[in-house]
Amino acid sequence: NTDTIKLNNDVRMPAIGLGTWRANETGVLAETVKTAIGLGYRHIDCATIYKNQREIGKALKEATVPRSELFIVSKIFQNNHLPERVGPALDEILDELQLDYLDLLLMHWPYALSPDMGHMGFSTSDLDPVPIMDTWRAMEILVESGKVRAIGVSNFNKSILQKMLPQCLIAPAVNQVEVHPYNPEHELVAFCQENNVAVTGYCPLGGGRVSVLRDATVEAIAGAHGCTPAQVLISWQVARGLAVIPKSTSPARLEQNLRTVALSPDDMRAIGQIPTRERKVDPYPEYPALKWVFHESEAECPVI
Ligand code: A2P
Repeated sequence: NTDTIKLNNDVRMPAIGLGTWRANETGVLAETVKTAIGLGYRHIDCATIYKNQREIGKALKEATVPRSELFIVSKIFQNNHLPERVGPALDEILDELQLDYLDLLLMHWPYALSPDMGHMGFSTSDLDPVPIMDTWRAMEILVESGKVRAIGVSNFNKSILQKMLPQCLIAPAVNQVEVHPYNPEHELVAFCQENNVAVTGYCPLGGGRVSVLRDATVEAIAGAHGCTPAQVLISWQVARGLAVIPKSTSPARLEQNLRTVALSPDDMRAIGQIPTRERKVDPYPEYPALKWVFHESEAECPVI
């Protein structure tokens, strides 16, 4: 698949990228990145909090494609939301990845944690009330510096984006959220697409927990097309105009995940109407104060 999505700054983002969350668990990440690039992957999704960017950087250094052909994404973690920490956080990402610039820098979550929180587990007292727009202003300045070609957000719901968009000097190019048939985000995707914010779906195969790969509708459509459920899930998203970042460390599955199939309008409708709802990632209910992040009927984002 060579589809690309045109971002609001006219840069093209390859529709299928390589996810790298949890990809270092088997110790083969550098090989995986090199294999993926060899197979044709040009979009690689990274994040500071995945704690594997040095290994990815080494592989990128050894890759034989020009930097200009790659689309490299990373994310500012929540302990770096203070405006004065944003630039240094990007410098650290570039150092780890051994790059001069990123194609896309995302704000990983719409809430901040205290600066000494460099890891996922936190308590409610670690929440820090840094306004989203303060962090965003600092990210806008990075575009002017030339160190990032585009900026965007991740895990942002519609009500946060509705408040944010009118205040932006540079609108987010991308919103990266969990998307698969059990969390299809019909309304959020429509809102983003109407507002020229591209959507990247993470955990498109259910992230190893949500059982979409074994869904009966998905399996039936895979059977009819002579492809795998993973190919159906990835093809469904690409056909909706989304980017997807399936993670795999298996060369055979990396290859398979790039091969989309042409789904019919009936297939698209059937997948879009699967009623099961389940997420892999949700800070609530572990942190009740964060219910607003994904449960929009609840209180809106407290600090924007
Ligand atoms: P592996 O790395 O062993 O291939 P997601 O991208 O939704 O986070 O899902 C990633 C999970 O799905 C990983 O456990 C990955 O395992 C597995 N996976 C990736 N590609 C495929 C595929 N084509 N078929 C089945 N499982 C896959």
